[in-house]
Amino acid sequence: MRHTVFSSLAMRGAHGQQHGDGQQPGGQHAPPEGVQQPEAGEADDGLLSVMDGLPPQFARNPLPGTMRPMPRPAESAPVASQAFDFRKHGHAMVDWIADYLEGIERLPVQPAVAPGWVRAQLPAAPPERGEPWERIAADVDRVIVPAITHWQHPGFFAYFPATASGPSVLGELLSAGLGVQGMLWSTSPACTELETHVMDWLAGMLGLPAHFLSSGTGGGVIQDTASSATLCALVAARERATGFAGTAGGLQGRGPALTCYASTQAHSSIEKAVRIAGLGAANLRLVPVRDDRSMDPAALRAMMDADAAAGRRPCFVVAAVGTTSTHAVDPVPEIADACETHGAWLHVDAAHLGIAALCPEFRGIHAGVGRADSYCVNPHKWMLVNFDCDAFWVRDRAALVQALSVLPEYLRNAATESGKVIDYRDWQVPLGRRFRALKLWFTIRHFGTEGLRAVVRRHVALAARLRDRVAADPALELVDPTPWSLVCFRARAGDAATEAILSRVNASGTAFMSHTKVDGRTVARVSVGAPGVAERHVDALWDLIRGAR
Ligand SMILES: Cc1ncc(COP(=O)(O)O)c(C=O)c1O
Repeated sequence: MRHTVFSSLAMRGAHGQQHGDGQQPGGQHAPPEGVQQPEAGEADDGLLSVMDGLPPQFARNPLPGTMRPMPRPAESAPVASQAFDFRKHGHAMVDWIADYLEGIERLPVQPAVAPGWVRAQLPAAPPERGEPWERIAADVDRVIVPAITHWQHPGFFAYFPATASGPSVLGELLSAGLGVQGMLWSTSPACTELETHVMDWLAGMLGLPAHFLSSGTGGGVIQDTASSATLCALVAARERATGFAGTAGGLQGRGPALTCYASTQAHSSIEKAVRIAGLGAANLRLVPVRDDRSMDPAALRAMMDADAAAGRRPCFVVAAVGTTSTHAVDPVPEIADACETHGAWLHVDAAHLGIAALCPEFRGIHAGVGRADSYCVNPHKWMLVNFDCDAFWVRDRAALVQALSVLPEYLRNAATESGKVIDYRDWQVPLGRRFRALKLWFTIRHFGTEGLRAVVRRHVALAARLRDRVAADPALELVDPTPWSLVCFRARAGDAATEAILSRVNASGTAFMSHTKVDGRTVARVSVGAPGVAERHVDALWDLIRGAR
């Protein structure tokens, strides 16, 4: 299968950029839109007023200050050791991505390649000598595009979305271009401080409690995924429960068994975290759910009481705000009561649905979150920030840092010793970290909170449009309907009929849905969230569903 809707990246590379690159004949760069022109008599040397007042050694060192092109040295230096026309190929790549996103609807949402197809297109061994960029770029069209599931396709209704937008992609590009590794404040103050600042912004945008702000006892940090956030929360909870003894002696048969709790509908990442943190999957209690598939708080309390009575130590509870299967919202206030009784850490996993709290009318999903010890949500799922970007907050940063901090001599520095800075390496599992805050910052600033709310509202309205049709169809039944962006339904005729609908939709190439099991029965999930999805895509999906039932 070949798709030829895009002009090939290789051709763009070979013939130079086609438009919009700001370059004039003769290699001069026109200032981008919005950039101030120098006044008469003012040197256009790329130096900005930000240079004023800096010590003289920096005055010779031009800072870009805005995204206008930096002054170029007479001889362009290669970006890496091999000569590479980064400027030309970079412009071509950006054009290619723009074409891809604009034309994505013409591609089948899911690839039709068999397992092994991609590897069969590739040489068995790496090249001994470097290859021309044109050849490398041509393989994007030849090998990569045909084997892509197009997550940004407006017919993508599967799982939860992983959304991208122009500003976030540029944030990702800039992060790569800067090549920053922000493990310590001192290894790039901007990387740390922008993250702290934008996480404070986001906490406010979502109506989260003040103690999650950096000005309070807690603070926010960007993790790669919700799975990592949950793992970090669990490690902090484990250490708090053991008086931080685990960091020294480990859990090798010492003290009472630590127990964890999440509903039967909780995401698999919770069991994974329990295993990785060494607590043992057998010590994860799966709490029964109520009719709406939310955790039964009385059952939770009974399980915690029983564990405590048996000499075990209830340590960690995960409440879901928007379960993966059906968007059920656990009763956080009652769960918080039980946690308080037992001194257990309460983590709220709002990976997808939490973003709905941008809209005041959906803030109710955050009832009780003010009593949580930690909370996570994924801007990469529903806030137009490209994967990966999980926002994770803790009430007490000291517990997290004490659990995760190891300071070897080679990382010691004056800023850390001063106690005045955050070193985010202590808030996550890996040491190194990417400059993810850029894409979050760009996205929030470009769309504004109001623009991001509009996206949520549009998706919710589109889901309602489909939900109404399913509800009115006697052959189908809604499963646990919720008022947000997820529609779950099944065929009344049984699993085979539901599976036939899924097969027909997914074979169409124009739409892609996923499934789950609820009460042992197959349920079709329509998760509305692609950046460009519109009424006509939902209507086309409905036509497919109706035609298959
Ligand atoms: C409720 C919930 N929690 C956690 C996750 C895991 O997300 P991540 O891929 O960011 O680890 C998901 C994924 O869809 C989810 O729906």
